[in-house]
Amino acid sequence: MAIERTLCIIKPDAVEKRKAGAILALLEENGFQVLALQRSHLTKHVAEGFYAVHKARPFFGELVTFMTRSPVVIAVLEREDAVAKYRGVMGATDPAKADAGTIRKLHGANVGENAVHGSDSLENAKNEIAYFFPASVVAPSA
Ligand code: CMP
Repeated sequence: MAIERTLCIIKPDAVEKRKAGAILALLEENGFQVLALQRSHLTKHVAEGFYAVHKARPFFGELVTFMTRSPVVIAVLEREDAVAKYRGVMGATDPAKADAGTIRKLHGANVGENAVHGSDSLENAKNEIAYFFPASVVAPSA
């Protein structure tokens, strides 16, 4: 298995509940290195750009409103097989369907307010990392 990087966004609901530290600790316990970390309050423009792939979905407006309502914490994670491993630790999109012990089961409320985002492929991980972190902060990986 190759060493990979993936992008984690700790969403406004989890940051508001002061769970960012607990989520980062869980990720470290699961073998992830936190390569870069940023707290920011996303603008509408930045959130719409990040979720552009979902633009035609009926929940797009709700998603952007939620993601811009208060600050998020954005992390670049690295470990072996990081994309798949993080998706496992994160749990299903709907916290009600997520496995016990996953971040979304522990901290998510519903399919919209589900505590964290994670990249769904290695290609998207590279694009999502570059969207938030310049090469001077995280040098692009191979
Ligand atoms: P995320 O991994 O951030 O990527 C897209 C997000 O859209 C997803 O997590 C969900 O939080 C959100 N989403 C998916 N389906 C719905 C829905 N039916 N209503 C509101 N938000 C949704």
